[in-house]
Amino acid sequence: MTNGAFITFEGIDGAGKSSHIDALAQALRAAGHTVTLTREPGGTPLAEKLREMLLHDSMDALTEALLVFAARRDHLRCVIEPALARGEVVLCDRFTDATFAYQGAGRGFDLEVLSYMERLAQTGVGLQPDLMRSPDLTLWFDVPPEVAAQRLSAARAPDRFESQPVEFFTRVARGYADRAAGAPQRFARIDSSQPREQVAAQLRAVVAARGWLAQTP
Ligand code: TYD
Repeated sequence: MTNGAFITFEGIDGAGKSSHIDALAQALRAAGHTVTLTREPGGTPLAEKLREMLLHDSMDALTEALLVFAARRDHLRCVIEPALARGEVVLCDRFTDATFAYQGAGRGFDLEVLSYMERLAQTGVGLQPDLMRSPDLTLWFDVPPEVAAQRLSAARAPDRFESQPVEFFTRVARGYADRAAGAPQRFARIDSSQPREQVAAQLRAVVAARGWLAQTP
């Protein structure tokens, strides 16, 4: 198949997106697609090293943003663009919307500077103009920050982001809502406070409506 697609998964920590990504990958494979499953920050050996630093080493907001974009550039060059060029479906756990939500709304980093950094990282100022990439579909797992915080407290030891107070995630959630309002065709809101089965059904329906899976009756 050569009808590649770039699908991203977004939401605050504890929204429960990760558990649905594998199931969607399986469904897409069963429908005949070749699927590349990847994540950000990460997805390449270099970007995974940067992920470790981002999640565990203390740093200021600018350093954090620079590392996020450095990881993204490597990931785009080495994994995402080649997979899309082969006509694959790329499922990516977080992408640039997370930067605007976490570093922008969450940390308070200037959004215009982030937009500039996005262009810089993805175009390389004329070096590689073909890396400016926006997802075809963004599945936004939306859940009240208080619910997400409860889910997280039962999980493993928190990283630098997960250990933030609920007010941080309230800002991040607002950041995602703003991004969704700015790109309503690209964003599909999944009500992630529903029971797991309903979330999965909603997810499938959205992907089927875009033509990548058969519609279920
Ligand atoms: P996450 O995707 O939640 O993975 P896991 O489920 O394994 O914890 O963790 C990645 C963290 O990185 C998450 O807290 C959000 C943060 N992040 C940013 O702050 N900016 C970004 O641009 C990206 C991609 C992630």
